Amino acid sequence: MSVLMTTRLRGLPLSETDFDDLYDLTRDERVLAAFGAEPGTAAEDAREAHEFLDRKLAHWRQHGFGIWMFRDHDGAFVGRCGIHHWTLDGSEEVELGYIVRPELWRSGYATEMGAAVVAHAFSALRLPALVGFTRPDNLPSRRVLEKLAFEYERTFVSHGEESVLYRRNNAERRQERSS
Ligand SMILES: CC(C)(COP(=O)(O)OP(=O)(O)OC[C@H]1O[C@@H](n2cnc3c(N)ncnc32)[C@H](O)[C@@H]1OP(=O)(O)O)[C@@H](O)C(=O)NCCC(=O)NCCS
Repeated sequence: MSVLMTTRLRGLPLSETDFDDLYDLTRDERVLAAFGAEPGTAAEDAREAHEFLDRKLAHWRQHGFGIWMFRDHDGAFVGRCGIHHWTLDGSEEVELGYIVRPELWRSGYATEMGAAVVAHAFSALRLPALVGFTRPDNLPSRRVLEKLAFEYERTFVSHGEESVLYRRNNAERRQERSS
């Protein structure tokens, strides 16, 4: 099992028992606002949340990676971070995503989780590249990608929503190929 350890956190692959933490996080108004949802429109549909969990568990089974749930040394839930297959304009990509419990924002947790997931993706899984995308006005998310050494590539529109796309190539893999 791919357990990811960081200075302050332990990340475990998503499991059935994570439903409550996952659900609380994704219906928080502050988290929804970051994804462009209007205040007061928080989805409280547990069925949709169960479907989301099932899809993400299936992604783990099919690809051997997905969402890790990160907890501190006392076992308290801090946030989730993961990598997922994603198609953009016909190109197959693997996308990095992260959400931190709002009470803990600006403590460096997203960067800490992201660094562990990127290292695993490049060293253990040997993926050639990762992308990240977010709304242009999501400055914390853009900053996290920059701190993880992703570079801005372009702005794209999907379902009428503008997003900025960042990419980081796996430098180790490129070196191996050229040697
Ligand atoms: C984006 C998110 C994960 C960041 O989590 P976090 O743990 O607070 O991130 P970190 O503390 O590791 O780093 C955040 C960086 O953004 C900066 N930042 C935070 N708020 C900011 C703002 N309003 N404007 C500019 N920069 C900001 C921080 O200062 C920090 O950079 P620094 O270390 O150079 O000072 C968190 O805000 C979140 O969960 N948002 C909702 C979900 C989301 O947007 N996920 C990404 C979707 S693509």
